[in-house]
Amino acid sequence: MDKFIIKGGRRLEGEVTISGAKNAAVAILPAVILSDEPCVIENVPYISDVRICIKILREMGAEVTSLGKDTYRIDPTTINKFCVPYEYARKMRASYYFLGALLGKYNKARVSMPGGCPLGDRPIDQHLKAFTAIGAKYTLSQGMIDLTADKLSGNQIFFDVVTVGATMNAMLAAVKAEGLTVIENAAKEPHIVDLANFLNSMGANIMGAGTDVIKIRGVEHLHGATYAVIPDQIEAGTFMVAVAATKGDVLIKNVIPKHLESITKKLEKIGVNIEQFDDSIRVWVDGPLVKTDVKTAPHPGFPTDMQSQIATLLCLAEGTSIITENIWEQRFRYVDELRRMGADITVNGKVALIEGTGKLMGAPVKACDLRAGAALIIAGLAASGVTEIEDIFHIERGYDCMEGKLRALGADIEKVSVPDKAEEKPENDKAAV
Ligand code: EPZ
Repeated sequence: MDKFIIKGGRRLEGEVTISGAKNAAVAILPAVILSDEPCVIENVPYISDVRICIKILREMGAEVTSLGKDTYRIDPTTINKFCVPYEYARKMRASYYFLGALLGKYNKARVSMPGGCPLGDRPIDQHLKAFTAIGAKYTLSQGMIDLTADKLSGNQIFFDVVTVGATMNAMLAAVKAEGLTVIENAAKEPHIVDLANFLNSMGANIMGAGTDVIKIRGVEHLHGATYAVIPDQIEAGTFMVAVAATKGDVLIKNVIPKHLESITKKLEKIGVNIEQFDDSIRVWVDGPLVKTDVKTAPHPGFPTDMQSQIATLLCLAEGTSIITENIWEQRFRYVDELRRMGADITVNGKVALIEGTGKLMGAPVKACDLRAGAALIIAGLAASGVTEIEDIFHIERGYDCMEGKLRALGADIEKVSVPDKAEEKPENDKAAV
């Protein structure tokens, strides 16, 4: 088992380059299935969720060639299997994008119910609503979702909730459906726009991505394309918070400042200085951090995927901050771990009350999900003493060489492998006598 060991108290200084966006890449890679020709995808982050996508594509019969650390050539014309088995799907929530892509291309798909971060109930009713609206039928049995359609025809789809995954899946399924599909109450995240731009670069006809109404006119044929994934908004935000937590001064490169607006505004309220350039931002702190309230919301609101990271920063601010988590019902599971580091946080339902103590202390902690793990890294960087983080596989699902990037900024962080703990046997109380 791998873990991170962090010696806290070092300021982050220098420059860091952000990788491609995880939540765009895990949709764009399956989307290549829709093409009738090979595609080249660039700026792909080197993370385990992407490696699982590549494995699934190869398992289906696609030819995937690595053209360098972040570039893949994918030929989908050799695909001869239309199923994503449980062994892969359970490791990654985004496996459900293979449903939309396979249905959109072959009028059929068979994918295991998705896995992913344990954030509470993660239904897929809106995905199924989108698929059935354009003519698909589905069955759920033994944890597998089976989709079939005689023909896919454009239709109106109105989402009951704003959902990134279902918006992406609706686009994937409808892009070749005959006629016009209109998605209303669509999610507007940057990765939604990135997927639409990729599909349009293959010859699709999608308008309105990034607004709450997306119109898709089905096309017969999608040709190959070369496409670069956008920079990761959440990785950039995570580094912005890490610099603030260590009162550092860093130039964060390969970002789209517009995608970071809600994060930038919130950090400036907390007392962080931010200077924006065309494709980079400078982040530094030269004064106290102050309490601020945060409410998560769909884009362009404050991203839920930044909630645990900003909570960690607010532990270091002076005063009482309130965080309201409006997207996921169980996204405060990291709080217990931060409390082990001296955080004073009270959670009541979807609200967390943070009493800023101005400091944290190193401790052994465990990552319970991807962004919780990122928050613990930030806490360890800012804490006095040593922090050991277990279950870092969560972090490596979504961050491309986090420890290497942090070390290059001056952090004292290393990844060590330790033998998996044998199941601890309960003490034999007779022996105590
Ligand atoms: C995506 O998850 C992201 N994952 C999540 O990021 C992110 O937290 C989330 O969007 C919100 O931005 C990927 O893109 C792979 P949703 P997704 O569908 O698509 C409800 C990370 O850290 N809902 O937008 O699963 C749902 O319960 C991960 O990178 C339904 O009710 O999220 C939630 O309350 C964690 N029915 C809300 O919508 C559905 O059919 C938003 O979920 C689908 C969703």
